[in-house]
This record gives sequence, structure tokens and C-alpha cells, in this order.
Amino acid sequence: MSGEKVSVPQIRAQKVSSGQPPIAMITAYDAPGARIADASGVDVILVGDSLAMVVLGYDDTLSVTVEDMAYHSAAVARTKPRALIVTDMPWMSYHTGPVDAVINGAKLIRSGAEAVKLEGGRSRLEAVKALVDSEIPVMGHLGLTPQSVHAFGGYSVQAKTKEAAKRMLEDAVELQNAGVFSIVLEAIPQVVAQVATKVLSIPTIGIGAGLDCDGQVLVFHDALGLSFGHKPKFVRRYANLAEESVKAIESYVHDVKMRQFPSAEETYQVNQVEFSDFTF
Ligand code: KIV
Repeated sequence: MSGEKVSVPQIRAQKVSSGQPPIAMITAYDAPGARIADASGVDVILVGDSLAMVVLGYDDTLSVTVEDMAYHSAAVARTKPRALIVTDMPWMSYHTGPVDAVINGAKLIRSGAEAVKLEGGRSRLEAVKALVDSEIPVMGHLGLTPQSVHAFGGYSVQAKTKEAAKRMLEDAVELQNAGVFSIVLEAIPQVVAQVATKVLSIPTIGIGAGLDCDGQVLVFHDALGLSFGHKPKFVRRYANLAEESVKAIESYVHDVKMRQFPSAEETYQVNQVEFSDFTF
């Protein structure tokens, strides 16, 4: 997509209440994915740690490392997208303290990320502040935070009671005060996302948080029908590429078996005269 590079200050200012268009964010983990996302006009490409589940075949996001995230961020960055590149800090890359957070955040920035995202509220404020103080822009992530899968006992909707909702809103304000430039809200009731969006001066980006957020995010493979297994309620499939791909590769297998591939046009030929007496 041509046009001016999207920056962190631009996303920070993109509040729907101030007349700005909603933020469109999607994940990508490699060069073709980044090219497709950027050509589609997204504002933000998230190199999400969903990488673990949708690309690397793990059961949860806990197994990916800083090295994995850096490797995939570099592939995305090589395409030089117009969209802002945000990379997830994986589990245990910022939980052990602010120094580790900065060292690992810097590795991701050096691999091509332009900002990082991390999960959690009040218990992550020191890490957030240290990153922001080191000139590494941070996106927050509250609600259903997949790195907390064991602590939560699964992937369930969060902030469902008034008490839990208030606690999450307090976390959101604390994250804003610590310097995050936007916050992802995942799998929370619409009313809670609506209040968060109203109370915060930074944008909220929803996934399973309703229409009132300042933006939306989807996982690339979910949106294109390339993910397998359980489909969360909040996923809208815009294509069914898994089905299309199986059909395409079935046709290839058929053509190979029936000796219908390759054709003469798909084959290199030589001068017949030159090769008329060719033997070996
Ligand atoms: O890793 C990811 O893809 C995410 C989105 C679901 C927001 O964090």
C-alpha cells in the first residue's frame, strides 16, 4: 500500500471520539502475510504471539521465544510495510523485571518491530515504564490475555462482574499513565469496552470487545479461514482459504497422477537438431 508510513503518534491520536477513523489491525508473521495485510490498507500489523498456535502448531502461546518473535518480525519488516509493525513480547520476556523487558524489547526493535505489545495490568507497570523510558513504544493488552491461560483456567470471557470490570478499568488507566500508546481489549463485555474507550485518551483496539472500541484486530489465519480447530465467537471469517487451498492442491495431485502436469508450455525445450544424436 502506498502512502505515508503509519507512526506511533498517529495511532495514539486515532480516537474515534475525536473524529478519526477506526484503527484496522491484523496479525502477520511472514513476508507474504505482511504484503497481503499492507496491500489491504491495515493501519497496524501485529506480529502476534498467536504465531505459536496458528503457524508453529503449539497448543498455546507460551512456547514461543524472543528469538522466534524476532525471526518473524524481521520477515515482516523486510517487506517495508506502510502499516506500523507491533510485535508481541512473548511470555517470560518481561515478567522477570524491567531490565529483562528492556533487553528483550530492544531485540525485537532491532529485528524490525516499531513497537511492542505486552499483556497485563498493574503487575506489569514497571516493565512498561522501563520500555517507554528506553524509547520503546508499548501497546497494552487487557481482558483475556492468552499468556495467562493457566492462571485463568482456560480461554474465557473476562471482566464479567462489576468488580472485575472495575479492576480491569483501573489497570487500563494505570497502563495509560505508564505511557502505553493504545490498549488491546480481548474477550470482554461490550459495555466494559465502551466505558474503557470513553475513559481513556488513548485508543482501544478490540477483539471480542464489541463495536465501540477505537479499532479492531483479528488473527490473519482466522480472518482468512486458514486456522483449524475451535472458532471463537468473535472471529469473522472473510474467506475460506483452507478449503480453497485443499481444492487447489487436490487438482495438482490429480494432474500429476494423470500426467497432465507439466504441459509443454511449462517445460524447457532445446534445439531439436542440436540434440538429435544426444545419448549418455
Ligand atoms: O497474538 C495475537 O495475535 C494477539 C491478538 C489476538 C490481539 O495478541
